[in-house]
Amino acid sequence: MIKLLLDSSDKRLVVAIAQGDKIIDCVDYEAWQKQSEFMVLEIDNLLNKNNLTRKDIESVSVGKGPGSYTGVRISMSIAKTIAFALNIPLYTISSLALICHSFEKPSIGIMNARSKRSYVGVYDKGKAIMEDCILENSELLAYIDEHPDYLLCGDLAYLGLKGEEENIAEELLRLSVKENEEENPLGARPVYLKDSYDQGHFKTIVRKMLPSDLDAVKSIEDATFHNPYTKEQLAAELNENPVSGMYVAVVDHEVVGFIDFMITFNSSTIVQIAVKEEFKRKGIGNMLLGQMIKDCESKEDVVEFITLEVRVSNAPAIAFYKKHKFSEITIKKNYYSDGEDAIYMVRSL
Ligand code: COA
Repeated sequence: MIKLLLDSSDKRLVVAIAQGDKIIDCVDYEAWQKQSEFMVLEIDNLLNKNNLTRKDIESVSVGKGPGSYTGVRISMSIAKTIAFALNIPLYTISSLALICHSFEKPSIGIMNARSKRSYVGVYDKGKAIMEDCILENSELLAYIDEHPDYLLCGDLAYLGLKGEEENIAEELLRLSVKENEEENPLGARPVYLKDSYDQGHFKTIVRKMLPSDLDAVKSIEDATFHNPYTKEQLAAELNENPVSGMYVAVVDHEVVGFIDFMITFNSSTIVQIAVKEEFKRKGIGNMLLGQMIKDCESKEDVVEFITLEVRVSNAPAIAFYKKHKFSEITIKKNYYSDGEDAIYMVRSL
């Protein structure tokens, strides 16, 4: 039995077959806007050449986008049809994860989205550390400058840069794992990202906090908390605390929220999370907490739970944490300096 691996999300056409964890045959060439003509033909060629039939296929894996609108739809509909007809598993994998390869370092997968924009995904050994999104090229270049230790992946000639060598077929095979399996192959949908761009959501990105963000974070801190940290305390958290993680949410170059957390061995703690008043209830808290969870999941030591304290009077934050599956464990009496009690909440990971 063989695994069929397909991708046509960018300029290339990739069709490969694998047995166990080995690619046994593969075609991979540039076929811009010709993928629909060639994909089915190449699948049949590869099967014939290796004395196989469609009945020998045990699973299908496909790049689900983002990428070329037509290219993504072609491979997705072919993959769905084969998986449905043969009643076999369908794995759908981010096309940006595919170009990131399983490098040792965090990698930025980049694709030209045209109109001076790029599709961007940041992956560390196959796991997303920043959600796939669409950025203006100027924002992407700033992000690259802020992360000089990240590898760049993809065909980056349009940015005047050079990306690492890709191996899409190998990555399709490696990422054909349970978490990428579609429960209902016919329900699988390509990811375009351009929809969210058009709705204006695209500009929210979560990235590591930089020293240049200190003033913006301090002003959110002052507007939010009873006993705000001083700028020096925030700077110490950022620069000197080896177990702290600090991320900011940025909308159109403006810092609109931040999270400060600590990870120590098997547990993690939310020290602070805050979103600017006018940006609340837009999912930014979700993104910040999601980033913390990703960091916890990427640690070598298994991080088992997240803890926090919240004022008993802070109904919005309590609702936010309950939405994120935190449970109330106990009340800490007189926890805050003004005498207010705290609810101690925990969520397992
Ligand atoms: N009332 C009820 N539920 C709320 C809520 C509120 N005011 N705010 C968030 N939630 C819940 C909802 O279920 C919401 O999903 P929905 O909007 O689809 O209903 C979900 O949490 C996610 O909300 P999101 O938009 O991601 O939250 P946010 O960006 O507004 O950020 C906080 C949430 C808590 C960070 C924000 O309210 C904040 O900055 N508060 C002040 C600082 C603070 O109290 N920090 C915590 C200290 S321990």
